[in-house]
Amino acid sequence: MKSFLNVEDLGSLSQALEEARQLKENRFQYERLGHNKTLLMVFFNNSLRTRLSTQKAAMNLGMNVIVLDVNAGAWKLETERGVIMDGDRSEHLLEAIPVMGSYCDVIGVRSFAGLTDREYDYAETVFRQFVEYSGRPVFAMETATVHPLQAFADLITIEEYKERQRPKVVMTWAPHPKSLPQAVPNSFAQWMMAADVDFVVTHPEGYELDPKFLCGARVEYNQQDALQGADFVYAKNWSCPGVTRPADYGKVLDDYHRMMHWTVDEAHMALTNNAHFMHCLPVRRNMIVSDAVIEDPRSLVIPEAANREISATVVLKRILQEL
Ligand code: CP
Repeated sequence: MKSFLNVEDLGSLSQALEEARQLKENRFQYERLGHNKTLLMVFFNNSLRTRLSTQKAAMNLGMNVIVLDVNAGAWKLETERGVIMDGDRSEHLLEAIPVMGSYCDVIGVRSFAGLTDREYDYAETVFRQFVEYSGRPVFAMETATVHPLQAFADLITIEEYKERQRPKVVMTWAPHPKSLPQAVPNSFAQWMMAADVDFVVTHPEGYELDPKFLCGARVEYNQQDALQGADFVYAKNWSCPGVTRPADYGKVLDDYHRMMHWTVDEAHMALTNNAHFMHCLPVRRNMIVSDAVIEDPRSLVIPEAANREISATVVLKRILQEL
């Protein structure tokens, strides 16, 4: 695997899930594979889970790890060509990327959407530059439009906890005071549509996801109808993707105070088939989900986060096997 961005990059999902199951039984079974190989993790944005789980995955495989926080101690990087660099950005990404590539064997990149220029974000401009100019395999640690390590961990978790062969999985939008990217819901939709689940998305009008990621998923604007009979409820906020309202790309469309009826609470969960609650974390309690729901024994937020180590181990193993 030369780059990891979308579900197709993994090939057969059932094979990947079986690999994940086996690696979870013994996560050190490939501990020689990464000997004398170096992973560089480049963060343009904050992280807790991705940082720790991907580093742990690399250690499981015997790799060395370097972490670069671009906005804390490195030169500020210009990312666009043609800019007269007379501001505070001292180095261009087009020099920095090949330099980074010269110190490592594999690169992970976290670079969120700017949420002001849809075309720039949806072209995955920063990630694509790493693929083109680093000379190394590059994988997404949440980019402008996708978060595949999260979606893979989510799918592993659903596989582990499902109580019927083809569970109903509902992804519901929930309120948030800030503009958030669409990377997590984009990837979750893409991966659920590739998996053997009955998938439904619910959100207020105006938050339609890009068809490229929605992959034909059923959209139900009435949240209560969507939640009926759900086996898994996946909550997430996202800002306007700009599909039906291009001028509103990246915006919060309504004051969140008016949208609090979308917060997943016990009344919402009572509509479901005793569903498990899921969220990628970090989560704002009593905005996205009530204290009672996230603390309920049916909540999977901790095992879901723990599975990030497994999804990252599978992906890094696949990359190392093709070096
Ligand atoms: N879910 C997730 O990616 O968490 P972090 O932003 O903390 O890495």
